[in-house]
Amino acid sequence: MKKFSIVIAGGGSTFTPGIILMLLENLERFPIRKIKLYDNDENRQMIIGEGCKILIKDKNPEIEFEYTTNPEVAFSDVDFVMAHIRVGKYPMRELDEKIPLKHGVVGQETCGPGGIAYGMRSIGPIIEMIDYMEKYSPKAWFLNYSNPAAIVAEATRRLKPNSNVLNICDMPIGTETRMAKILGLSSRKELVVRYYGLNHFGWWTDVRNKDGEDLMPKLKEYISQFGYLPPEVVDKQHMDPSWIETHKKARDIVKLDPNTLPNTYLKYYLFPDYVVEHSNKNYTRANEVIDGREKHVFGECKRIAMEKTSKNTTLHVDVHASYIVDLARAIAFNTKERMLLIVENNGIINNFDSTAMVEVPCLLGSNGPEPLKIGNIPQFQKGLMEQQVSVEKLTVEAWIEKSYLKLWQALTLSKTVPSATVAKKILDDLIEVNKEFWPNLK
Ligand code: NAD
Ligand code: G6P
Ligand code: MN
Repeated sequence: MKKFSIVIAGGGSTFTPGIILMLLENLERFPIRKIKLYDNDENRQMIIGEGCKILIKDKNPEIEFEYTTNPEVAFSDVDFVMAHIRVGKYPMRELDEKIPLKHGVVGQETCGPGGIAYGMRSIGPIIEMIDYMEKYSPKAWFLNYSNPAAIVAEATRRLKPNSNVLNICDMPIGTETRMAKILGLSSRKELVVRYYGLNHFGWWTDVRNKDGEDLMPKLKEYISQFGYLPPEVVDKQHMDPSWIETHKKARDIVKLDPNTLPNTYLKYYLFPDYVVEHSNKNYTRANEVIDGREKHVFGECKRIAMEKTSKNTTLHVDVHASYIVDLARAIAFNTKERMLLIVENNGIINNFDSTAMVEVPCLLGSNGPEPLKIGNIPQFQKGLMEQQVSVEKLTVEAWIEKSYLKLWQALTLSKTVPSATVAKKILDDLIEVNKEFWPNLK
């Protein structure tokens, strides 16, 4: 069987060791000959790189490994680019969250003004990496899970329409894992779902088991009481207090539409006042991650490198991250696995903008995704999605045209922002701190 060469872009990410451990656990399904890490922050990546070097050496010494900040070294001789960069890193995430909050608006990594700010930073570097891939490994595929995925996906649609790029999010995967647990099933893979929306902005309309039994009634009953909090712990990634609160809040979102089950991120759009009231302006999710995941992962990588062994490590396999293997395998081996991907609408949702990037079930094979038809969606979802997709499109247009006006319009249109006045204040503050990353707006 062919063995693949991959580069993980954003090598210094807190998720890199978990993904490497996951890849090492899945070698039978997806054989690997070479793993490279690529980052533009040499010092940050070195810590993760030195830790991962030992993880790989301990488990599969025959796999070649290197980490680099040189694009030519990183992107040459690869079959897949797995991209999870965070442009501006946690200090900028902290500002994305805290600046809107200062103005009484939701402060979130991917939703509202914070997501728009992060999008404006991410577009350039993502497009640049796709260019590197096409220059050095023209047949490779770019699997993107860098955020904000909705805006990044729209940017790749506009600027790289013919490239081998797939945008995917793990939130539905995480939530389906919770659904499976609630139903007493062993894996989300026992579920067959229908889902539609934008990234971090969608709804399940149908959840069945393989025999076709409708599981929605049981799920709705449970979730309207407890949200997406199953009786037992399911995942290590989304267990901090703020995430538990988010899973719980789904019980209020379902009240707005008894026919569907919501993506957890809808809470930021449907209950922004509640979210702001329950946010700590001085300690946001960025701080929780810096004090939690980042400390743990970097601490462990340093220890492993020093002790030259990964024995007894508390770094864990991101089990649910195995969707990344499913994704690569589907392309490599034409598996036609059914997965939720972010693709151009083109009539999938009949009564919705055909150029919108929507998140829907697709059959994935060697020549890319074949989306399944959704048909018409109800007025409530359609109205919300039209507003939000306009925010995303205006942000990408603002970046391309360097337009202050379009970005102000994007912020004004976000359901999280109460007025054009507040939008402008937030925008001017964001411009101030994003000088190094955003185009110069006219
Ligand atoms: P992190 O800050 O720990 O890691 C990101 C890395 O990207 C950093 O080492 C940084 O130096 C690097 N980077 C930034 N700009 C770069 C550039 N231009 N070129 C190369 N490298 C660059 O962040 P994290 O919390 O581990 O998250 C990483 C990314 O993955 C984020 O975008 C996050 O939102 C995303 N994420 C996505 C999903 C999903 O389902 N789509 C799930 C989890 C995380
Ligand atoms: C989910 C989302 C990702 C997001 C992550 C945030 O997995 O799908 O898009 O990046 O949560 O997690 P964090 O722990 O960094 O807040
Ligand atoms: Mn996501």
